[in-house]
Amino acid sequence: MVIVLIGYMGSGKSAVGKILAEKLAVRLVDMDDYIEEKEQKTIPELFRDRGEIYFRKAESRYVGELLSGTKNAVISLGGGTPCYGDNMDRIKELADKVFYLKASVGELTRRLGKEKDHRPLINHLSDDELEEFIRKHLFERNFYYLRADKAVNVDNRTPEEIAEAISSEIQ
Ligand code: S3P
Repeated sequence: MVIVLIGYMGSGKSAVGKILAEKLAVRLVDMDDYIEEKEQKTIPELFRDRGEIYFRKAESRYVGELLSGTKNAVISLGGGTPCYGDNMDRIKELADKVFYLKASVGELTRRLGKEKDHRPLINHLSDDELEEFIRKHLFERNFYYLRADKAVNVDNRTPEEIAEAISSEIQ
């Protein structure tokens, strides 16, 4: 069984994925970690040294490789992974179930405001610009995210509660 978590940066994919994987007694595979290991660079280094286009091409190549080579796992993807090329088609084809961790613009702005420095897409934005950026970006990305099998609201819920909600959907 391969369960895939998608959603905007800061929606809790890694935190929820960790708890969900423990509950299901499978491993957690993180797409960003996979890319970092393959490329031998951190994500911020990749953006800085090679640029976003290189990163997106690598991400597209690795998502198919990762999904087709993984069994019995929870896979947490990068926030942009479903939104480029035919990635979402591949994800839907290769995963047993895809969950979208759906957070509101307000919640994402609060969460990301505190930790934007290591995120290359938003580290140049002021606190005032962040909310507007997220609003527009999420509007564009929702087209892809909403192709998930199920959207799970994450506002005002703990990672444990969200993992429990997902786990009850698949058992
Ligand atoms: C990105 C999200 C990041 C990482 C990269 C680009 C995005 O992953 O892949 O910085 O385009 O939303 P997380 O969502 O795990 O932070």
